[in-house]
Amino acid sequence: MRADFFAAELQSVKDAGLYRQLHLVGGDQGPTLMLDGREVINFSSNNYLGIANHPALAAAAKAAIDRYGCGSGASRLISGNMTLHEELETKIAQFKNTEAALVFNSGFQANVGILSTLAGDGDVILSDSLNHASIIDGCRLSKAKTLVYTHCDLNELEACLKQAASARRRLIVTETIFSMDGDEAPLVGIVELAEKYDAMVMVDEAHGTGVFGANGAGVVAKLGLAPRVLIQMGTLGKALGGFGAYVAGDRALCDLLINRCRSFIFTTSLPPAVMAMALAAIDLVQNEPHRRDALRQNCQKLKEGLSLLGFELGRSNSPILPLIVGDAARCMALSAVLLGRGVFAQGIRPPTVPAGTSRLRITVMATHSAVQIDRALNVFEEVKRQWPPITTS
Ligand SMILES: Cc1ncc(COP(=O)(O)O)c(C=O)c1O
Repeated sequence: MRADFFAAELQSVKDAGLYRQLHLVGGDQGPTLMLDGREVINFSSNNYLGIANHPALAAAAKAAIDRYGCGSGASRLISGNMTLHEELETKIAQFKNTEAALVFNSGFQANVGILSTLAGDGDVILSDSLNHASIIDGCRLSKAKTLVYTHCDLNELEACLKQAASARRRLIVTETIFSMDGDEAPLVGIVELAEKYDAMVMVDEAHGTGVFGANGAGVVAKLGLAPRVLIQMGTLGKALGGFGAYVAGDRALCDLLINRCRSFIFTTSLPPAVMAMALAAIDLVQNEPHRRDALRQNCQKLKEGLSLLGFELGRSNSPILPLIVGDAARCMALSAVLLGRGVFAQGIRPPTVPAGTSRLRITVMATHSAVQIDRALNVFEEVKRQWPPITTS
């Protein structure tokens, strides 16, 4: 078969206005970024607390390399289960107030693996309509029937639970803070419905961990729901500034995953430096709440400023501020205009978000200065004067 196929497929992506290209970052992940050779203010990072380049993480990683070397050499079940993996799991379990925890190589692998291990033929997964692609793929891989309920709609979730009454098992899965909208799931209501209809609850705290809860443990902790949420998944690569993911829950849950979860079993384990960074990051997150305070203040400042300019930001109560544009091409044009003026706010298009809801995904960091936020607001004000119309040519 000739490679013409690649070009033809790419052309159809371009024709749909959905062609994606990589930016090149030439420095560290701070509130400013060297992007494609130019310094811009960074409103497109999940490094919410600004610790991805913290000296404590770097020192921990270097010390781990000195002591344990660079690679882990094998999967966890072969010779790749190092002391640091278990140390981190103990720490995550304490952090999340659960009996145990298990580290995964990425959030994507965790969601795909957990869902396909815990649900199968004869089961029903109840999934929020705006759940992340990795959750969607986990549902697909599981072979369970998946009922998708309208975003955060408890009435519809209840109707789906009734519909699933005769299933072998029911599993509700939701993000706690939605990655592209920044709003919070109605978790208390979800847990109550789960208890009423005998369903398991799995949460994805990718964007909740580090940001919410008294010690940064996430939305489940903020609401005191840890004992009632069976499966708490989260990532180490966003507010925690490193890489990887975890699930926290009962020992039996983790042991079952060790035995059955293909994305845990059949992959080389994370290297020691990554474990050490995560251990250092959890210490910072737990012991230095001033970062969360700064993040909240920055969120409020940017949100208020954008609202005063007349921008609608939906129901976000997190560092993720979605500025809905609608049309994909228009959204990318707006993002490009902002970037041209030194403000990086990534445009997000289908399939990441539903058609017609393309948006700028503006993310705030604890380490943005007031000057940087004011500068961004000035740019948004300038751009708003000529928007609409924005030309896409
Ligand atoms: C809600 C959510 N879950 C899972 C993931 C995947 O995590 P990771 O980047 O560690 O693969 C992401 C981000 O990419 C996410 O936003």
